[in-house]
Amino acid sequence: MSELLSVHKLATCFHSRRGIIRAVDEVSFSIAAGETLALVGESGSGKSVTAASILRLISAPGRIEGGEILFQGQDLLKLGTAAIRQIRGNRIAMIFQEPLSAFNPVQSIGTQIVEAIRLHRKVSRKQAFEQAVTLLERMGIPSPAQRVHEFPHRLSGGMRQRAMIAMALSCEPDLLIADEPTTALDVTTQAQILELLKELQAANGMGMLLITHDLGMVAETAHRAAVMYAGRVVEEGSIDRLFTAARHPYTAGLLASVNIEALAPGTKLPEIPGSAPSLLNPVQGCAFAERCNARHALCDKQTPPLATDTEPESFPGSRHRVACFLPARPDAIPLPVESEAA
Ligand SMILES: Nc1ncnc2c1ncn2[C@@H]1O[C@H](COP(=O)(O)OP(=O)(O)OP(=O)(O)O)[C@@H](O)[C@H]1O
Ligand SMILES: [Mg+2]
Repeated sequence: MSELLSVHKLATCFHSRRGIIRAVDEVSFSIAAGETLALVGESGSGKSVTAASILRLISAPGRIEGGEILFQGQDLLKLGTAAIRQIRGNRIAMIFQEPLSAFNPVQSIGTQIVEAIRLHRKVSRKQAFEQAVTLLERMGIPSPAQRVHEFPHRLSGGMRQRAMIAMALSCEPDLLIADEPTTALDVTTQAQILELLKELQAANGMGMLLITHDLGMVAETAHRAAVMYAGRVVEEGSIDRLFTAARHPYTAGLLASVNIEALAPGTKLPEIPGSAPSLLNPVQGCAFAERCNARHALCDKQTPPLATDTEPESFPGSRHRVACFLPARPDAIPLPVESEAA
């Protein structure tokens, strides 16, 4: 499968008076064309900073300090400001939780969507306007022909969110980064928008990085998921395998209380007891050790690398990575012979 986006050992830090906050540390994952990767993890684990880093939207006191972000083979970290602007909102679009920041307050949403369309396609203003109305309609906005003339602040939160998604999609991006895209919307509208996103993906091969706390949405939309903990990816794999045979004690702990069979939209990512360590003075060893019930002496000394996991018979061909010295062994995965004998 050809990779659309390949993030390799990304490191993003914030320099505060109290020290260096390692918000994103050695993060690696990739997304193929037509694929959706969900990025999950508790609050503060570095999901939004990862997304902002891909678009180079990190500003002081933050800094991207290492790694590679290959997009269609080109390292985004090596591009000049003008080149990255060309890619942003064109080949890579982003939708945020707070839609107001995506709009210019003094232009109607229609004008802004028309501009986005015309940046990408050679169509007349009139044609682009019609396309804008159609997009708004597909987002479930009532009376789109009237609403298209509204200014952003005149719309309700939910409408504004849908208009922002319409604008992001209007340029037919190759990659869509969606950070909690539908949290402000009711379940019916959410389902409608997810359906539309899937349709576009099937039609255009759009890749998607989906950041969400909604496990129902992950199950419904994503092909693979990367689980972040304290700025690092601790496990990554296909949804099927992650949800039924998680290897990292953090992922296994999160999912222990979830009924995978009956995952409904709106099911929030559960929380586990304890809190994540400070990113300001990272502890030696595994950041999860403090909360882990499988903690081992080595876990306090070394940070486990994100390594490719073995392929069990029950999941042939599944690419799976886990960062743990003692991964959990769910029933689905056969134990090594020597452990069985012990
Ligand atoms: N502007 C900033 N200045 C200093 N530290 C920051 C800044 N933005 C983010 N951080 C640090 O980066 C860490 C990761 O933040 P991020 O916003 O990526 O978390 P998240 O996983 O998106 O959380 P949530 O699920 O709540 O959205 C935070 O814990 C915080 O310490
Ligand atoms: Mg966030």
